[in-house]
Amino acid sequence: MMTKAILPPYPVSSPRRLRRTSGLRNIIRETRLNPSDFVYPLFVRSGNGIKKEIPSMPGQFQWSLDKLPAEAEEIARLGIPAIILFGIPDEKDSIGKENFASDGIIQRTIKIIKDAVPDLVVITDVCLCEYTDHGHCGIVNTGDQKLNPNQPDGSILNDPTLEILNKVALSHAQAGADIIAPSGMIDGMVRSIRSALDSEQFEHIPILSYAVKYASGFYGPFRDAAESPPKFGDRKSHQLDPSNALEALKEAAIDVNEGADMLMVKPALPYLDVIRRVKDAHPELPLAAYNVSGEYAMLKAAAANGWLDERIVVLETLTAIKRAGADFILTYHAKEAIPWMNN
Ligand code: PBG
Repeated sequence: MMTKAILPPYPVSSPRRLRRTSGLRNIIRETRLNPSDFVYPLFVRSGNGIKKEIPSMPGQFQWSLDKLPAEAEEIARLGIPAIILFGIPDEKDSIGKENFASDGIIQRTIKIIKDAVPDLVVITDVCLCEYTDHGHCGIVNTGDQKLNPNQPDGSILNDPTLEILNKVALSHAQAGADIIAPSGMIDGMVRSIRSALDSEQFEHIPILSYAVKYASGFYGPFRDAAESPPKFGDRKSHQLDPSNALEALKEAAIDVNEGADMLMVKPALPYLDVIRRVKDAHPELPLAAYNVSGEYAMLKAAAANGWLDERIVVLETLTAIKRAGADFILTYHAKEAIPWMNN
C-alpha cells in the first residue's frame, strides 16, 4: 500500500517577492506621509528683527512679529495646513495677565498671520505656564493667592484656573484663532472653554484637547524655548503618569463627553500604544499626536554626531506615529521632512 508523501506546506505567498523593487514596495505601502499630516509649532516674542535659534532645538527659532508673515508664507507654500502658536510674554505674573490681553503676544500674532496667509489654520495653545511667574499651568494656592485653605500650599487650584482658561480661549477666538487647544490637563477645561466660547457666539470654533498629556521628561527643550520651566515642583499633579494607559482612555472619554472636537496624545514616540488605543476607542474623532521637543532634540543631537541618518530616522518616526493611529502630527520636523518625503 502506498503511503502519502508528506509535503512541506506550500508557501502561499513569499513576502519578499513584494519587496524586490522600489516600485513593488511603493504599491503595497500602507502608510504614507503627506504635508497635510503636519502642524508646525512656532514660538513668538516681542521685539524686532528677531530670529533667535533655540539652543536645544537646532533649526527652531523664537520669532519677532515682523518676521512672521514670510515664515507663514513659506510654511503654507510647503503644503503644511496649520501652525500652533506659543508665546513668550514680556511680563510674567502670578495669574499670567498677558495671556488674555487683547494686545498680548499671541493675540497680535494671530492677527498678523491671518492678514498675511488667511488660509493657514491657526491653532493656539491655551495654558498658563508660559505666562505665570511661577511657571505652573494653573493658579497656585499660596501667599496672597491662597484661595483654598483646605488645600496644601503650592497646590494647583482647579476651578480658579478654569476661569483664566476661559478668558484666554475667548481672547484667542476674538483675535481670529481657528482652533483652541487647551493643554493644561485641568479637570473640566473642555466643558468650561466650550461654554465660554458658545456664550460669546464662537460656537463655530473647534476645541482640540490635549486630552492625554503625560508628565514627560521629553518637554525639556520646549521649556527653554518657551521660557516656561516650573520654578518649583513639577507637573505630576495634573499630567498623566507614564505608567498608565487605561487612565489615558478615561481622560479621553471625559474630554469627548465635555465636547472636545479633536483629541491629542502627547508625547508621541514613547506613547505609540496609547495613540493606537485612543484611536480605537474614539475612531470618529480626529486624533493628533505631538512629536515633542525632546523627541526632536534627540534625533537632531544624534544626527549632528553622525550617529544616525537624520532623513531616515525622521521619516521613520513620523511614519510610526501615523501608523499608530494619529490623523495629524504636531512636529518641529515638518518643514525639513517635506522635501525628504518627495525623494
Ligand atoms: C504647555 C505645553 C508644553 C508643551 C506644549 N504645551 C509644556 C509642558 O507641558 O510642560 C510641550 C511641547 C514640546 O515639548 O514640544 N503650554
